[in-house]
Amino acid sequence: MVETVPQGRSVGAFVKGIILAGGLGSRLRPLTKVTNKHLLPIYDKPMIYYPIETLCHAGIREIMLVTGGTSAGDFLRLLGNGAEFGLDNLCYAYQEGENGIADALRLCEHFADGERIVVMLGDNLIEDDVAPYLQAFEKQERGARLLLKEVHDPGRFGVPEIRDGRIVRIEEKPAQPRSAYAVTGLYMYDARVFEYIASLVPSQRGELEITDVNNHYIEEGTLCYDVLSGWWTDAGTFESLHLASQLIAGKRGR
Ligand code: DAU
Repeated sequence: MVETVPQGRSVGAFVKGIILAGGLGSRLRPLTKVTNKHLLPIYDKPMIYYPIETLCHAGIREIMLVTGGTSAGDFLRLLGNGAEFGLDNLCYAYQEGENGIADALRLCEHFADGERIVVMLGDNLIEDDVAPYLQAFEKQERGARLLLKEVHDPGRFGVPEIRDGRIVRIEEKPAQPRSAYAVTGLYMYDARVFEYIASLVPSQRGELEITDVNNHYIEEGTLCYDVLSGWWTDAGTFESLHLASQLIAGKRGR
């Protein structure tokens, strides 16, 4: 069953959400040989339902979904116009190739139309209600806001180095992580994010990295963060896909 939006929830003028569901999902082959990773099941729903529900629950009413590959049409058949989730508007964009998270986000500039955005990776699951974090970002004059979570395997993620309570640098998948935190896949940005993306060059793995975008905001001194209180996981590996189903099953059981 789809979770619909609670009545009366609002995050003010901050209403546009973006969900990134492109990429190859190569770490999940052969599960992703003939379909997109975000259409795989997590317990009783397709993976893509979870980020949509997280944003809807926080009061987001307009979402742009970016996908790619050969299964793009399946998202339309599955999600339609988003009314089932309580959305006013569900837009779609198609990413040619798999050139990175920031490359997928680049396609949403027109949709954002100069407003602040909240971006969520399509393979992330967050237990918390994220509305309070979005409200904290609304109070921020400008910049970006990230959500961190302590993990046992930070080297798999973007890892912040924290000094005196501030993030001084983020490293993508470091061999020697400088903290036990992962940068989770929910990002809040002001409208300048698209300028920063336009100035990026591909990383060694040939992608436009979201970590490079976040480091721009750090250098500018406008990046803030919160630490999630509930559980968080991605679902991009066999272990995390399995864990995600267990976490959702536990939540349903409560
Ligand atoms: O899950 C959080 C982590 O996600 C962060 O800690 C890392 O800093 C960030 O780089 C990312 O790391 P991953 O290696 O897990 O990213 P992955 O390539 O698996 O992509 C995550 C999602 O982003 C994927 O589910 C869909 C979207 N994506 C990815 C790529 C490469 C796109 O839409 N297009 C793309 O080209």
